[in-house]
Amino acid sequence: MESKRVNSILHCLAGVALAALMSSPALAADDSACLECHGSLQQVADAASALEVKLTPERTALLVVKPPQPGTVHTGIACADCHPKASEVPHPAGMLQDNPCATCHDDAVKQLDRSAHRDPAGGSHLRAECWACHGAHDVRAVKDPQSDVAPVHVIGRCLACHNKKAYLVGVHGQAVQLAGLDVAATCVSCHGGHDILAPSEAGSRVARRNISFTCGKCHGRVAETYRKSVHGAALMADDNPDVPTCVDCHEAHGTPDPTTPRFRLASPQICGRCHGDRKMMAKYGLSTNVYKTYVADFHGTTAELFRATSPDQPLNQAVCYDCHGYHDVESVRKVGQAQIDKRLLVRCQVCHKGATASFLSAWTGHYIPSPTKYAPIYWVRVFYRLVIPGTVGFFLLYIAVDVWGRRRHRRSL
Ligand code: HEC
Ligand code: HEC
Ligand code: HEC
Ligand code: HEC
Ligand code: HEC
Ligand code: HEC
Ligand code: HEC
Ligand code: HEC
Ligand code: HEC
Ligand code: HEC
Ligand code: HEC
Repeated sequence: MESKRVNSILHCLAGVALAALMSSPALAADDSACLECHGSLQQVADAASALEVKLTPERTALLVVKPPQPGTVHTGIACADCHPKASEVPHPAGMLQDNPCATCHDDAVKQLDRSAHRDPAGGSHLRAECWACHGAHDVRAVKDPQSDVAPVHVIGRCLACHNKKAYLVGVHGQAVQLAGLDVAATCVSCHGGHDILAPSEAGSRVARRNISFTCGKCHGRVAETYRKSVHGAALMADDNPDVPTCVDCHEAHGTPDPTTPRFRLASPQICGRCHGDRKMMAKYGLSTNVYKTYVADFHGTTAELFRATSPDQPLNQAVCYDCHGYHDVESVRKVGQAQIDKRLLVRCQVCHKGATASFLSAWTGHYIPSPTKYAPIYWVRVFYRLVIPGTVGFFLLYIAVDVWGRRRHRRSL
């Protein structure tokens, strides 16, 4: 009985608000009229029952709107500026169909129209609506740390639609989120905000050719060094599709810390992905033995073993970049043998203190020993290949004959 009475009183109240709104359309310009029905859960529920619309609890919660908070940018703007049709109650259908931001921010709409988030039909129904990134009722200045597009918040906005969670565990994601380092890269530093383009488009910040410049905004000297290397120069000179860009060695989103033992141990495989690829290397007349011989030599064998069994343990065996460098990789063919020998010894001495020129000869380089190159080693290997199986085979035969002979001997007893 009691609740029925309360209900009917509320019914009346909502009726009054409804009547007031309908009788004087001028009230529509005043937010208070809207907030009488949209101000709280109870008000929305009451308004719905007065208007005889059924709402789920989720929908009811969505319809609650706070008056503009201090510090947000649209405090001077009325509800009706963005919802011009809402003065009609019950509201007409399709009120949220037009983009309400377009009236005042035409420029932004135009920018988005040229981006990956454009309306495929050419209108203002963007793939990522303005409020998917900025919010609708609590828009803040982009420089405001509480803004939805501030570095630490915008990540969540983009991730709501794009599955790039690897970013969160990479060096940049960790720096922004855990270290509060707003200067580290967010989605927006590498992709832009309104002018985001697919990596396949030439003008994209993340098109192969542009990646080193995008990373270079913050890693300037590394990027310059890279562009002069045998890899970077080939990309700059003729858009070489095979050479690595920053993200082939570092990953775009899950960028691991390159100073860890884990990265170091896995690095020969990064280089080996291309330098072990016969088809690719044949184009440049480069040997693919480099990876094979590395894995087979004293440095590589141990490094591979560690990678497989204890990838986080520091290991001081030489990896590809201890000899070749990484951002400054040079063409060994162009440098010439004399220079190589001179520079190589310095590289060896980093770990083999006191190594002299003769020490170099202990290493067969990337060559698989042959009758023409490292001949003594070749013949020693051939010798072992013949002698060891020969000896073992002979012993096995000897044992077999012996066992057979004893059995026969036993049976004949
Ligand atoms: C008499 C109560 C009442 C008043 C006054 C009122 N609304 Fe509503 N409004 C509702 C109800 C109820 C709904 C849910 C309608 C539905 O889902 O069919 C709603 C829905 C909406 C929606 C969502 C529409 C959609 O298609 O999803 C918007 C936007 C809205 N109102 C804005 C406003 C604005 C702006 C004002 C002031 C100009 C206002 N309303 C005034 C009751 C009211
Ligand atoms: C700067 C423009 C702007 C202003 C001002 C504005 N709104 Fe909105 N409103 C929007 C946009 C955009 C959406 C759509 C949000 C979405 O779909 O997530 C929306 C959605 C809504 C909804 C529906 C919620 C939903 O998710 O379906 C209601 C109700 C609403 N607004 C009421 C109001 C009221 C009341 C006011 C005034 C206090 C107001 N709005 C002021 C832009 C605005
Ligand atoms: C994909 C996310 C995203 C979408 C969608 C988006 N913005 Fe932005 N917007 C940003 C980011 C990030 C910034 C900060 C500036 C920057 O780094 O580009 C920004 C900046 C702004 C600015 C201030 C700087 C300027 O360019 O004047 C305005 C105004 C703005 N956006 C309005 C809009 C409007 C209107 C829409 C819809 C047409 C929209 N935005 C859609 C992410 C977005
Ligand atoms: C009635 C006009 C109007 C509408 C509609 C409107 N805005 Fe604004 N917006 C403004 C004004 C005015 C400012 C303040 C400009 C300034 O301070 O430079 C502003 C500022 C902003 C800013 C902050 C820009 C900065 O420099 O940091 C963003 C972001 C923004 N609006 C996004 C939106 C979005 C998203 C929508 C739609 C949901 C929208 N606006 C709808 C008028 C409007
Ligand atoms: C509301 C969902 C939504 C939000 C939020 C959003 N996007 Fe998108 N984005 C899309 C859709 C849909 C496409 C087009 C379909 C596609 O190619 O994936 C797209 C396309 C892209 C593309 C081009 C992908 C390609 O290969 O063609 C990039 C890059 C991108 N978005 C980055 C971002 C970034 C960065 C942010 C945050 C600042 C963001 N997006 C926010 C939905 C969204
Ligand atoms: C350090 C720079 C960097 C950051 C930070 C970054 N990206 Fe990317 N992103 C790239 C590069 C480079 C590519 C293209 C090459 C590739 O995928 O390897 C790319 C590609 C994409 C693509 C399109 C290609 C695909 O795989 O579908 C989307 C979508 C995307 N990123 C979304 C995001 C989102 C969302 C975030 C934030 C969580 C983000 N990116 C952060 C550099 C970055
Ligand atoms: C907006 C600036 C910015 C951009 C753009 C950026 N980075 Fe970074 N990056 C940083 C900052 C700041 C750190 C340091 C993070 C830390 O130490 O926690 C960092 C750290 C790194 C590290 C780890 C360095 C170390 O010593 O541990 C690597 C690798 C890296 N970035 C690669 C890239 C690549 C590749 C790109 C482009 C695809 C890129 N970054 C784009 C700012 C940026
Ligand atoms: C051929 C593979 C390769 C390419 C291409 C590459 N890097 Fe690196 N990078 C490495 C390796 C290997 C290390 C780790 C060296 C170490 O510290 O042991 C590294 C280290 C780094 C570091 C940590 C600081 C340092 O110099 O040791 C940053 C930052 C970085 N790279 C950024 C970039 C950027 C930006 C690009 C593109 C302009 C890029 N890298 C291109 C392999 C590469
Ligand atoms: C994405 C594939 C790719 C990755 C990864 C890669 N390279 Fe290369 N590298 C190439 C290609 C292609 C060339 C030939 C470029 C040319 O000659 O124009 C090349 C050339 C070279 C050369 C010069 C050979 C010569 O004498 O001309 C050296 C040395 C080299 N790479 C070492 C490395 C090292 C060390 C790593 C790992 C840190 C590495 N590369 C990672 C593709 C790759
Ligand atoms: C101990 C030092 C050292 C290590 C480790 C090393 N290299 Fe080399 N690399 C050299 C030297 C010296 C040369 C030039 C002489 C030669 O061809 O042996 C060379 C030559 C090359 C060439 C040119 C081959 C050609 O056909 O002209 C490539 C490509 C190369 N290395 C890649 C790699 C890769 C990839 C790795 C790791 C898997 C690696 N190197 C490990 C020292 C090293
Ligand atoms: C990053 C450090 C590092 C670099 C650079 C390096 N090595 Fe080594 N090398 C090692 C380690 C560690 C061992 C294993 C030592 C052991 O097991 O006693 C080793 C073992 C060797 C061995 C086996 C014999 C021995 O002393 O145990 C030879 C030969 C060798 N290296 C040659 C070279 C040559 C030649 C160079 C230069 C082209 C070079 N190394 C560069 C770390 C390095």
